[in-house]
Parts: sequence; C-alpha cells; structure tokens
Amino acid sequence: MIKIGLLGLGTVGLGVCEILLEKKSIIEEQTKKTIEISKILVRDLEKDRDSTVDSKILTDNPSDILDDPGIDIVVELIGGIEPAHTYITRALENGKHVVTANKAVLSHDLLGLTNLAKKNNRGILFEASVAGGIPIIKPLKELIKINKIKEIKGILNGTTNFILSKMIEEGIDFKEALTLAQDVGFAEADPTDDIEGYDAARKISILSSIAFGYNVAFEDVDCRGITSISALDIDFFKKLGLTVKLIGSAYSNDLDFDASVEPVLLNTNSTMANVNDAFNIVSIEGDIVGNLQFYGQGAGKNPTGNAVVSDIIDIINGELSHIDIEKKEKPANTPKILSNYYLRISLKSQKEPDFILKSIDRYELKYKFIREEGNLILILQNIGRQEVKDVIEDLEIENRSCYAKIDSKSYYFIQELNLESFNELVV
Ligand code: NAP
Ligand code: HSE
Repeated sequence: MIKIGLLGLGTVGLGVCEILLEKKSIIEEQTKKTIEISKILVRDLEKDRDSTVDSKILTDNPSDILDDPGIDIVVELIGGIEPAHTYITRALENGKHVVTANKAVLSHDLLGLTNLAKKNNRGILFEASVAGGIPIIKPLKELIKINKIKEIKGILNGTTNFILSKMIEEGIDFKEALTLAQDVGFAEADPTDDIEGYDAARKISILSSIAFGYNVAFEDVDCRGITSISALDIDFFKKLGLTVKLIGSAYSNDLDFDASVEPVLLNTNSTMANVNDAFNIVSIEGDIVGNLQFYGQGAGKNPTGNAVVSDIIDIINGELSHIDIEKKEKPANTPKILSNYYLRISLKSQKEPDFILKSIDRYELKYKFIREEGNLILILQNIGRQEVKDVIEDLEIENRSCYAKIDSKSYYFIQELNLESFNELVV
C-alpha cells in the first residue's frame, strides 16, 4: 500500500483525486500497489467542496501529513514559495518522495530542493510545473543524455495565451478575457504572475536549468508581460498579417546565455501563431536530434492532474530520475540579439510626433513610421531588447506605449507586403 498526502485541494488537487479514483485499477495494475490518499491539507476546512473527496481526510494541520511516518509521497499543490518550500523541505527530510506542480517554488530553489532529494535518496518530480499536460520535463531529461541543447522557446503560459486568443478571435477586452481564464481555473492565485510574464519566466528558468546543466534563476530571465497590449494594437497586428504571442525563450552556447519572456509578433500562418486558447507549445533545438516541438494543453484540471499522476506512478515504480544542474558554469556573456520591434505611442498632442522622431534620431536607428488614430506606430529595425527599453525610458512613454518584438522570419514576410503605407526613415 502506498499512502499519499496531498497539500492543496484546488483545481489541480481535485483533478488528481478524480484521476486516482477513476483510473484506480489501471494505476494499481501498473504499479502493483494499492494507492490511498490518506490526508489532504487545505486552508479553509469550512469551504464547500466537491463530493469526490471524503471530508474526514481533510486537515488544516500540515504536520498531519509531513510528520506522519505512514505517508510515502507528498504531493504539493498549494502553490507559491512559502509555505510550500518549507513543506517540501520537511517532507524530503522526513524521508518522503515529493511530486509538485509548483513552478514558483522550483524556480526559486531548484538546486537546493533537487540536492536535498538526492541527499535523502528520495525523488522530487515536477512534470506538471511546466506546460501543464505536455510531457516535457521527462523528454528533456532523456534528450540531454546525448544532445547539447542550444535553444528552448515556446508559449508557456495558458492564461495569457487564452486572453490573447479571445482578444484576437472574439474582440473581447483584456479584463473580460482574464475573468474567463480565472473562472476555468487556468490562472494563478494572483493572476499578476500570468499577465506580467512571471509564470512563463519561472517555466523557462526550470526548462533551461535542466537543458543547459547550470542553474538559471527566475531573476536571470528578462521578463515582460502582455498588460500594455490594447484592442488597437491587436487590430494593427491583424493589418500587418501578424499575431501576438507571449514567448519564453532561452539560448546558450559555451560563451553566451540569454533568457527572456516577451510579446512576439508572428506571421499569422506560422505554427506558433496558431497555438490558441490555453494550449502551449515548446520547441527544443538539440545538436543531434534537431528541432522538436511539443504541443498540448498547458493548464487546467485534467491535463495538469494527468502530469501529477504520471509522476506519482514513476515514483512508485522507482523512476526517480534525478537532475544535475551543477554540471557547468553559467556563461557570463549576454549576447546582443538584434531584432525588429513594433512600438505604438499614444500621442498627447498633434506636434508630439516631431519631437518623438527627433529624439529617436539620436539613437541612429533605421525605422518606419505611420500615424493612426492619435497614435504613432514605429517599426524599429535592428535594435536590441535593452535599447528599446532605453528609448521608451528616454521618451518617458512607459504608461502610454506598447512594444513587441517582430519574429525575424515574420518580419521578412511582412516587410514587402504590408509596410508599404509606412514612411521610411533611414538614418
Ligand atoms: P488553487 O486552485 O488556488 O488551489 C490551491 C489549494 O491549496 C487550495 O485547496 C487551498 O486551500 C490550498 N492552500 C493554499 N495555500 C495554502 C496554505 N498555506 N495552507 C494550506 N492549504 C493551502 O491552485 P491550483 O490552480 O490547483 O494550483 C496548484 C499548483 O499547481 C500551483 O503551484 C500552480 O501554479 C500549479 N499549476 C496549476 C495549473 C492550473 O491549471 N491550475 C496548471 C499547472 C500547474 P483552500 O481550498 O482551503 O483555499
Ligand atoms: N497559470 C498557469 C498558466 C497554469 O496559465 O499557464 C499552468 O502552469
């Protein structure tokens, strides 16, 4: 008999309970063990709950799980850094295996928690922490046995992808789309984590730490979300034949490392542009295997619950698959990657464009521009990420502008076709 202690009974916790119940006989056949959820930690014992779970096994005392010598596996689904970090640490120190879906705690201390698991000869598995139902951590661990990974990128946040899809397809506004995402349980407890890009940054930090073999912290990811994208921008992207997606990416070679999360404009016909709703996609570039793409539901009760239960089965079957993220030194250099950027500035006066264009000229940039409904829209060419930020800070337009990188292949696609109405300035 394997006894499980569940920390949290929200969207994912309930999904795990339902899957363990519904697939009981298949799971027991695969593991040759009977499995029991002994206790479930919640915050509020008085809350109305789904009848799938017997209320007698609920507790609000973490010690009932973490210090119970009968519990073999602790499944952490409460989210956030604390008290999750303390609970996972205590579970591992008390000789329990851990399964978690919590990217916040992992990107905060992946090295410490994985080392603690190894030291205690226990497993910590976290398939559900990145890209929901898509198996990505396990395949990545397989890939790095032979491949040197140069780049990982993708749509890693279901909530923002859902919001952008609804804004593009149904023309609903940002707030309404966010409420819908919260109702279906995709969003984090604090949706700021989703919409400001922090959740995607945590996921890219976890993936790149495994892929590159050195610790990539959340703070190493240059991160920007989708809150400045308005209906006007969405309309303009459509006119240009582009679709906006929040893309997380990480790049590494022996000398350079770069990781970012930012809105990116893609050719509407490209594969990533057509990943909609809460679906995610992860693209991995290995030196032997070439390019691999993983696609599926990135959030929600069942896809995420599925990933958690797969980890539980692996632990019971002794497949602990430890990772080593101290194999290499993190390269010191950040490469200056030049791209093209869309920048929209909401104008304060008729004369402001002259001032803005004159100020931008100081940067000796090549750009195209157009005036549209009280806005100045610029396509800045061959500019680095930091340089765009400097321009925006210099012009003091942080609160009335929106900018997004134009994917290089997509820029090639639009420049002949869709920029003919723009004025061209070559400095
Ligand atoms: P949720 O719906 O907000 O549920 C959180 C659960 O944890 C609730 O049952 C809550 O208790 C309990 N809880 C929170 N803080 C607690 C504390 N300090 N002590 C005791 N219990 C506490 O969250 P979720 O969406 O299931 O997400 C859980 C984890 O999975 C998070 O790390 C999240 O990032 C990750 N994840 C979620 C998804 C998704 O689609 N939702 C997908 C992938 C990964 P009460 O019920 O009493 O409030
Ligand atoms: N809030 C997260 C998302 C949940 O929307 O992608 C899945 O990790």
